[in-house]
Amino acid sequence: MQSNKWDNVVRRRAFLKGLGVAGAMLPAGALLATGVRALTSGDTAVLRFLAAAEILETDLWQQYNELGGVNGGNASYMAALQNLDGDMPQYITDNTDDEVSHADFLNAYLKSRGADPVNLDEFRALPSSQATGARQVGRLTNLQKLVVDTSFYTRYRSSENPDLGGIFAQAVKIVNEPAIPLNDTDTPPATGQPVPPVTTAARRMQAIANTASFHFGYIEQGGASLYSSMALKVRDLEVLRIVISIGGVETDHFSLWHDKLGNAVAQPLAGDRGDVSRSKQPGDRALPDQQDPARADRFPQEWAS
Ligand SMILES: [Fe+2]
Ligand SMILES: [Fe+2]
Repeated sequence: MQSNKWDNVVRRRAFLKGLGVAGAMLPAGALLATGVRALTSGDTAVLRFLAAAEILETDLWQQYNELGGVNGGNASYMAALQNLDGDMPQYITDNTDDEVSHADFLNAYLKSRGADPVNLDEFRALPSSQATGARQVGRLTNLQKLVVDTSFYTRYRSSENPDLGGIFAQAVKIVNEPAIPLNDTDTPPATGQPVPPVTTAARRMQAIANTASFHFGYIEQGGASLYSSMALKVRDLEVLRIVISIGGVETDHFSLWHDKLGNAVAQPLAGDRGDVSRSKQPGDRALPDQQDPARADRFPQEWAS
């Protein structure tokens, strides 16, 4: 079990520091007897909040990994992702591994400092995708009908500062769209994925992969800014070290996905339409081309001026 592994890692680190503390949760009085300093309530709250966020991240990345990771089960989805970058399945699997370790480490660390770990198992009630490759288990997150906030894409290209009231437009519109294949009728799993996609099924799957690429960046920019915000709120130096260390990994994740998603809004994979609405335009759901200088509306107003 992953969590046992991290319990052992945290316990070993504590022992090497001369504390010799068992990793099991201990009440404050017992902690004092062992020489362990209990966390402040604020540090505990920050770590538990981050552990919950990591459990959610793990849940969504596991769904991507089952379908499109290095051992992914949906060939067409993997091919569409690889149209964005040949290493996409490997990156997806690596990112998933990171999130599992973040969640397990934070929970093991909480226990080692006498605090309650986080468990969200009772909320694993959302249905899995029915597409080939998806495990049929309860989920915490829904990747089948996503509204993706893409304003991070414009924020990092803006001269405005969000701390000074800057407001940033959506780079592309992604409203109630899937980021993973829904079922084999909608997207047959053996469909070829030429570049650019030609058939309705291939365009559909490419649009799903392109949507995923923006969701990857969206999730990880959230993680990156979350950790840098929380680092300012903790008191214990060891907790600070943990927060800035995991935060650095989240920033690396964002940088990686920001690079990849650029291919979803550039030819030959970008579409010529300004939205990805499948309900209005079946088969015509690719993201707009943000690189085409002939498109006056390709950037938000601020950029065009
Ligand atoms: Fe993480
Ligand atoms: Fe992450």
